[in-house]
Amino acid sequence: MTGSSLVVAPSLLAADFSRLGEQARAVESDADWLHVDVMDNHFVPNLTIGLPVVESLRKATALPLDVHLMIEAPQRWAPGYAEAGAYNVTFHVEAADDPVALARTLRAAGAKAGLAVDRDTPVEPYLELLPEFDTLLVMTIKAGFGGQAFLPEMLAKVRTARRHAAAGHLELRIEVDGGVAADTIEQAAAAGADAFVAGTAVYGAADPAAAVRALRRAAGAAVGRGAAG
Ligand code: DX5
Ligand code: ZN
Repeated sequence: MTGSSLVVAPSLLAADFSRLGEQARAVESDADWLHVDVMDNHFVPNLTIGLPVVESLRKATALPLDVHLMIEAPQRWAPGYAEAGAYNVTFHVEAADDPVALARTLRAAGAKAGLAVDRDTPVEPYLELLPEFDTLLVMTIKAGFGGQAFLPEMLAKVRTARRHAAAGHLELRIEVDGGVAADTIEQAAAAGADAFVAGTAVYGAADPAAAVRALRRAAGAAVGRGAAG
């Protein structure tokens, strides 16, 4: 992945959990990453899936796995996901006691390291940490559940982080997650996001692969990159 391409990452949270392998393969030829939401019923009220499922998914699809950990004590669990072959492992700054140490551990284990900021968390205090990370995930909803409405005011964080990354010549993916759909993805791309998680907009569609293509077109149009990427 280069910094110039746009990444579309369908979120399995909106898929049929009894057929995860099939649902992954349904988007395999069009998606860039597959977004996997791990929730522990403590950091967020919801409970989803854990390491055994990610290990199985790794064998079921060629798509790079983008693991979004919405869990407490990420230092205890995140390295296992890197060792299981996740492409990118993102944990929440609100849950981490030493984000830089954990980012270094993840990178040493061969994964990209991602830092997530939830709806009520400002990004400014963490800008100085970004050289240690490959991905910044800006929640555009309150983390925990799919199907919520996109919060456009979160894009101020995307703009701030993109400006900071550009000024420091950082290679940083800025990922938005929550309420991303054909009508909201353009604003996110224009604000400087270059990775887009979409659950309902992909798996709620009759043709998930076509939905991914439509999202990519809309994001590309917003930044003048056409459908490439
Ligand atoms: C929610 C998850 C999201 C979720 C987004 O906390 O992090 O990845 O799947 O779902 P939609 O795209 O439906 O808002
Ligand atoms: Zn997510």
